[in-house]
Order: sequence, then structure tokens, then C-alpha cells
Amino acid sequence: MRNYLSIKDIDSLSDWVTEARELKSNPRQLNNLGKNRTIGLLFFNNSLRTRLSTQKAAMNLGLEVIVMNFGSEGWALEYADGTIMNEGTSEHIKEAAQVVSQYCDIVAIRAFANLKDKEKDEAEQVLNGFKKYANIPVVNMESSVGHPLQALADAITLDENNLKNKPKVVLSWAPHPKALPHAVANSFIEMMQLQDANFIITHPAGYELDKKITKDIPIEYDQNKALENADFVYVKNWSSYTDYGQVISQDSNWMITKEKLGDAKFMHCLPVRRNVVVADEVLDSNQSLVIEQANNRTFAAQVVLKKILEKS
Ligand code: CP
Repeated sequence: MRNYLSIKDIDSLSDWVTEARELKSNPRQLNNLGKNRTIGLLFFNNSLRTRLSTQKAAMNLGLEVIVMNFGSEGWALEYADGTIMNEGTSEHIKEAAQVVSQYCDIVAIRAFANLKDKEKDEAEQVLNGFKKYANIPVVNMESSVGHPLQALADAITLDENNLKNKPKVVLSWAPHPKALPHAVANSFIEMMQLQDANFIITHPAGYELDKKITKDIPIEYDQNKALENADFVYVKNWSSYTDYGQVISQDSNWMITKEKLGDAKFMHCLPVRRNVVVADEVLDSNQSLVIEQANNRTFAAQVVLKKILEKS
């Protein structure tokens, strides 16, 4: 594997989860693998977990780490070919990606959807620009369309907490005051398509995700019905995909409460808005896996970097 851009880059999810759990049992066991090599982490958007867990994973493998808040500190990038750059952009992705490739052996990038132009977001111009012009491996730390490091961490968390052969896993939309991207939900869905599980999505009408991603996964518009006998409830807000980037409902009845959760485990990628997305009583209970999910971000990133280092 040269790049880790999406869940599709995983050749065997169960093998990767096993490998990640093995690394978790002794995180520094391969602390020479990345010796004398450098990873650059470029953030076009904010982060807590991704930034620290990817850095920690790299350090566990002996990599040197350079971090840059590109969105606030880098030059505004141009992506189009042949542009006369006499307006807001100062540097072309062609030079930027090649320059980063001189300093680093791996580059990891966070660049969210702007939720204004679906076509532009789906073109993944930052991630694909680096993929095209950098001559080093590229890792997706959440792009417009996907968050595959989060989904891999979620797969590890599911594996650690699952007591059944075929658990019932529900992905539930939740209300949020701001328009949020679809990336976490998309990658979770793609990851769940690789699992032997009874998987169902629930959301209000109008929040259908990209059919190319959801494929034939059942969608239930009645949240209470969807949650019946669930083993895991993964909660996430996303803005409308069809009415692209719009908040079309803030119905607080969709917030996850203890009563709705029943005996299921609660999952969320964080950060989460308390008492909007989920009630305190859930988040503060031992049914919540959110802190374990955040911990597993390190081992998801570590297994990805290990595979890239072994190949390069
Ligand atoms: N879950 C996640 O990606 O967290 P951050 O946005 O804080 O990195």
C-alpha cells in the first residue's frame, strides 16, 4: 500500500484490526521502523484527536514529525491548471506538494469539505493534488469525502467490544446547529460494509447520503424502530447531501438519550455537543465508548504508517 486515502485501501479489515490490536499491546515494539524518516502533518482545518494520535503513532514507530497548520499559516493554494494567479492564491499545489516531498517521507493531510460546491468537494482537490504532485505516500487525516483513520479506529473499537457473531450496529443521524461534512459517516459506512454485522442507517427524510456509498444498506426513517435491539449505536450529524450542505432539521427528538440507547454501546468520533447530539447521561455512562475510540485513533494510524513504511 502506497497511500491511505480511503477505506478501499484496506486489503483485509480483520487482519488490520488484529495487527492494530497487536501494536496496542506493545506500542513501541517497532520503534526503529521509521528511524531517519520524517512525516509531515498538514492541517487545513482544526483537530485535537487526529493531530495528537497521528503524531503519537508516528513517534511510536520512531518517525520524526513536522506539523503545520497549513490552513492558517501556509500560502493560499491554487489547484487549477493554467490559472492566471493574479487574485487570492499565492502558491500552486504543483510546487507546494513537490517542496513538501523534499522535507518529508510521508505526508498526511486534513482538508474538510467546504459544503458549498458538491462537485468541488467530491474532486478532493487538496488530497488529490498532493497525491498527484507529491512523490511520497499520502495519508488522509479527513478529507471532503472520507475519514478513513477514524473508521479504522472504530473497527478496532467494535472488535474489542463485540460479544456477538453478528451484532446489530445502527448509524444514527443527530441534530447539530452547524452544517457538518459527510466524511465520518461515509467512511463508517464503507467500513461497516466490510463487517459481518446487521447494519442499518437512520436519519430524517432529506438526510440521505450519497447512494454510491450507502448502496443497499437499509435506511429506517423511524429512529426508535431502528434502535430496537441494537448492540452499537454510532451517532453523527451530517448536513443534507441532496440539498448540499444545508441544515434542514434540528429536531431535538433525534438526540440520543439513555432511554433510546437501551443496552447498546454508544459511539461517536468526537468532538460532540453535549445535550444536543447526546445526553450527558449517555456520554458519562459506562455504555459510552468514545474515549476508547479516541485511544484507538493512535493504533489505527500506527498500523497505517507501519504498512507504508514497510512498503517504502
Ligand atoms: N474525530 C476526530 O477526527 O477528531 P479531531 O477533529 O479532533 O481530530
